[in-house]
Amino acid sequence: MKFLIFGAQGQVGSAVASEARAKGHEVTALPRAELDITDEKAVREAVERYAPTHIINAAAYNQVDQAEDDSEKAFSVNALGPGHIALAAKRNDCILVHYSTDYVFDGETSTAYTEEDRPNPLSAYARSKYLGELAAAINPKSYIIRTAWVFSRGGTSFVSRLLNLARSGKPLKFVNDQWCTPTYADDIAASTFAVIEQNAPFGLYHAAGADVLTPYEWATAILSRSGQKADITAVSSREFRTKALRPRRSVITNPRLKTLNIEIPGGLARLEECLKGSEEG
Ligand SMILES: NC(=O)c1ccc[n+]([C@@H]2O[C@H](COP(=O)([O-])OP(=O)(O)OC[C@H]3O[C@@H](n4cnc5c(N)ncnc54)[C@H](OP(=O)(O)O)[C@@H]3O)[C@@H](O)[C@H]2O)c1
Repeated sequence: MKFLIFGAQGQVGSAVASEARAKGHEVTALPRAELDITDEKAVREAVERYAPTHIINAAAYNQVDQAEDDSEKAFSVNALGPGHIALAAKRNDCILVHYSTDYVFDGETSTAYTEEDRPNPLSAYARSKYLGELAAAINPKSYIIRTAWVFSRGGTSFVSRLLNLARSGKPLKFVNDQWCTPTYADDIAASTFAVIEQNAPFGLYHAAGADVLTPYEWATAILSRSGQKADITAVSSREFRTKALRPRRSVITNPRLKTLNIEIPGGLARLEECLKGSEEG
């Protein structure tokens, strides 16, 4: 297989690129500096030039709060960009993998969301990502993979940023009345390849870790497993106002992956490997 990866320096983009190389595939991994997915001509020319069998779009504008003030940029990267990629993929008969988010849901439920549930995005970021899903589906051979709370060994990951903040000694506050499913980037990459290798039906898949935690519980777990002391307090989402509204309980499960016998471990089980990699890196 011949892979063209957009957003290749991000958490998921770099995990997919490593996995593709480890499997012996031909890989062209383009970071933003080399290819901006909002540039329709550049996307079209790259797809024609590299002639991939598979395109991975791991590029995204992920700054949830900033997107409220910069919705033009969020929509451009998260909705128009995937549209350019999907059109180029369709024209060149490529398989496209595009990633989306649990934030397409409003979180107003006590049960976990499946692929059958109807999105109701609450923020500019979430709306832009939902539109991106629709745009990616322009290509009939698209896998749209929703994931959540991605963490990785990389320096931009929540794990490294949290440990750096803890080392600085600043007091930390984390919300303890919202729930999420931390997902290890390497597991997203592995499930992406499992879907591709099984020639699974095209369409929408959820791919999230199995543990359900609040941000406070997640941050506390990272700190305790890394042996890092911190001044950390649990707060309510009422006390900790953010610019963008976040879903209260954006818990997604992966029934379509399960039908393919693809399981994603819980975030807690993957923390050790992540922390080991972060220290080594
Ligand atoms: N991170 C999460 O917690 C989370 C949660 C749910 C879903 N997701 C989804 O999972 C996917 C991968 O996310 P991630 O965590 O790997 O994000 P990430 O680490 O922030 O990586 C995103 C990459 O996209 C690049 N990028 C931004 N604008 C671009 C543009 N116009 N053209 C090309 N590249 C551009 C960024 O480059 P620069 O760094 O140079 O800007 C960055 O390398 C995304 O679809 C995201 O929405 C992520």
